[in-house]
Amino acid sequence: MIFTPLTLPNGQVLPNRIAKAAMEENMAAPNRSPSQQMLALYHRWSLGGTGLLITGNVMVDGRYMTGPGNVVLENDEHLDVFQQWASKAKSAGNAVWMQISHPGRQTPSNITQQGIAPSAVDLDLGKYSKMFAPTRAMEVAEIEEVIERFVTTAVLAEKSGFDGVEVHAAHGYLISQFLSPLVNKRTDQWGGSIENRARLLLCIIDRIREKVRSDFAVAVKLNSADFQRGGFEPKDAKAVVSMLEARNVDMVELSGGSYEAPAMQGSARDDRTLAREAYFVEFAKDIANGTPLPIMTTGGISRRPVAENVLEQGIDMVGIATGLALVPELPKLWQQNKDTSTSQPQASLKPIAWENKTLAVLARMAQVRQSMQRHSVSTKVRPQQPYWLAIVKDQWLSQRSVKQYKSWRAKH
Ligand SMILES: Cc1cc2nc3c(=O)[nH]c(=O)nc-3n(C[C@H](O)[C@H](O)[C@H](O)COP(=O)(O)O)c2cc1C
Repeated sequence: MIFTPLTLPNGQVLPNRIAKAAMEENMAAPNRSPSQQMLALYHRWSLGGTGLLITGNVMVDGRYMTGPGNVVLENDEHLDVFQQWASKAKSAGNAVWMQISHPGRQTPSNITQQGIAPSAVDLDLGKYSKMFAPTRAMEVAEIEEVIERFVTTAVLAEKSGFDGVEVHAAHGYLISQFLSPLVNKRTDQWGGSIENRARLLLCIIDRIREKVRSDFAVAVKLNSADFQRGGFEPKDAKAVVSMLEARNVDMVELSGGSYEAPAMQGSARDDRTLAREAYFVEFAKDIANGTPLPIMTTGGISRRPVAENVLEQGIDMVGIATGLALVPELPKLWQQNKDTSTSQPQASLKPIAWENKTLAVLARMAQVRQSMQRHSVSTKVRPQQPYWLAIVKDQWLSQRSVKQYKSWRAKH
């Protein structure tokens, strides 16, 4: 089943059921286009046998970034490099989609002094809250601008040769903030009922669809829940999926959580997802059984029997992030019946028993980012470095990226 092709509603055929889920690479060149090192990584992933590569989030607005090392696509200034990226990423006949994102209030304070969100509700990360900019509520004109920016980036992705885009509406980023009653306190047509809270996402999808070819995939990454009391709930997610059904969406990827409750990394304030390897499988199964839309779920999947089990539940595609960052050739190894849970290379990280959960999530992310960077330059299998070292290196790399980003911003 894993190696059976999947035909999407728009006719696009994915050669197998494994998708590399989005992971921001932190490998942008100083001009915010993808670096040559990043292109090499995508070439390697393509040759590794993954059916669909979804890029790390590409920013639709260079003023609001999820991190200083990320790629921005706002205009056609460096389209030749984006074309090379798409072409390298499709070398083995797989598909490549660009994930397009706006972080809203989850913009670090070393990027901007002020984040934007549907309402002025700052991110609450306890003693780490200062890592993020204070937030102000968006004007209606700014909401319109954001919609246009998503459309512009999607059209540029199509021009560059990508096979589709995935609109990031999960993980507490801007669209997810609009969906969440905890962050969206608006009383105009952009807040209140689920129809109003979903309006931003739906307008973005509709306007992208108007502008791109019919065989260009338009997908959505959506939270199954925020995993916070009073937040976006499974029933809201179900309602949004049924609104997407009418809109020629090609796939919905189900994840969960936000920076405040990082369920997508297997850690949430309530324990509903923790016991299993595929964190969101039950919810995804429930949705998949009630919708004609292709459904993908991501989170915790790194072993072949787990991936098979997810597909057997009626879910169309499995998303793998960490596993493919650690072992870019994972699908090929599975095809050759090689077990990656007991031998090198290992497709999952060592458990981390730190009491400070925020720091533990940062350490895992740092470890994964550095693995991607290593794989972009070398095929050597190396043992996992200690978590503290990953954090120290990450801080150093981040400071370097902030300098580069600031000098880019000064020129724009
Ligand atoms: C280093 C890193 C960067 C990530 N960047 C993104 C991103 O750009 N967009 C996104 O939707 N999810 C991102 N994620 C979340 C993953 O797509 C995925 O949902 C999560 O890691 C759970 O899947 P896994 O258990 O296979 O890693 C990132 C995860 C990691 C570890």
